[in-house]
Amino acid sequence: MRSKANALKESGARVINFAAGELSFDACAEMKAGALDAIHQARNRYTPPLGLPRLREVLAQRVSERTGVTFTASEVAVTAGAKQALFNACMVLLDPGDEVIVPTPHWETFPTQVRLAGAIPVAVDTRQDDYRLTRRAVQTAITPRTRMLVINTPNNPTGTVYQRQQLAGIAELALEHGLWVLFDECYRSLTRPGCVHHNILSLCPALKPQTVLVDSFSKSQAVTGWRVGYACAPAQVISAMHNLQGHTTSNPSSLSQYAALATVTAGSQAFADQLAPFLQRQLDKARSYLDPLPGVAYAPAEGAFYLYIDVTPWLGELYRGEQIRDVDHLSELLLTQAHVAVVPGSGCGDPSSIRISYALEPEELEEGMHRFVQFLGLVERADNY
Ligand SMILES: Cc1ncc(COP(=O)(O)O)c(C=O)c1O
Repeated sequence: MRSKANALKESGARVINFAAGELSFDACAEMKAGALDAIHQARNRYTPPLGLPRLREVLAQRVSERTGVTFTASEVAVTAGAKQALFNACMVLLDPGDEVIVPTPHWETFPTQVRLAGAIPVAVDTRQDDYRLTRRAVQTAITPRTRMLVINTPNNPTGTVYQRQQLAGIAELALEHGLWVLFDECYRSLTRPGCVHHNILSLCPALKPQTVLVDSFSKSQAVTGWRVGYACAPAQVISAMHNLQGHTTSNPSSLSQYAALATVTAGSQAFADQLAPFLQRQLDKARSYLDPLPGVAYAPAEGAFYLYIDVTPWLGELYRGEQIRDVDHLSELLLTQAHVAVVPGSGCGDPSSIRISYALEPEELEEGMHRFVQFLGLVERADNY
């Protein structure tokens, strides 16, 4: 969808891109200053594969403070974004034939990485449970081959945030069955007012020996292109990641690491504090277009910057005489007819919904929502014909 949107843009159309998974903001000031400083100080050489020792130390300290569970530098790996941290975890922990529970709708990469490691993703549908994995659903999905469980909160694509009780229940179950928990919290600083992000280890410290925490600077500091994130895990897992990363990509960019070091050392909340009211305003704006639509429903929009909209009422109906076959077709029509790019839920294991990002420039958001609603207004019931 993204490449089709770009092709359309190149032909001169004004395309509103709701499909991007990144903030429209400039990067956080500390990141920029740290990177510039690193350039001036000629930090141009390789670093150790798992990152600068000082960065690993400071990250360990910060994660210990925010989770209440002690981590040391030997339990931290700095990676080229959260994506590499997640990939490393799959590669070093999974064997062919292992099963991994993936709550669905899911970010497209989770099942793909599981498959790349030779393992089997087991999708667990969360739509009936307010788009959050429940203890009961995990219990039902566990088999003797289950090795790992993925949890992503705040969630991409749904925007939901897991609640304390729910997470604690899942943690207990993982402990009981000896499952690895791959806990992706890369949107943790992006929650809407009143919604609280919980870290699974804060709720269940005993789970530390079987947990990989994954976090990133991409979303929280608006530096998706800089490729820097990290994993925290037991030292032997980090040591295996060292072997893998050392022979694949080596260290993440030295400049991005120095930028990350400047940011975590400063420990400033200013950027997140600036984002929070902006994202709330944007969400309110997007909802003001959606809520009046009869039959519209979306996942609880509590974090990240996504609205995950159930488009079932429009599937099978007619747009200018053409039957909307499925969610991919709807997304394609939105792009070609309304010049609005969205992410179809089919890539997230869900044929009923689409994801839009509301982290756009305010005028873009208004224009995009206007076109989206106008498009849906032109859809007619197929049984009228
Ligand atoms: C849930 C989730 N995890 C990880 C990532 C990857 O982030 P990074 O840019 O740090 O690799 C994304 C990016 O969209 C994401 O949505």
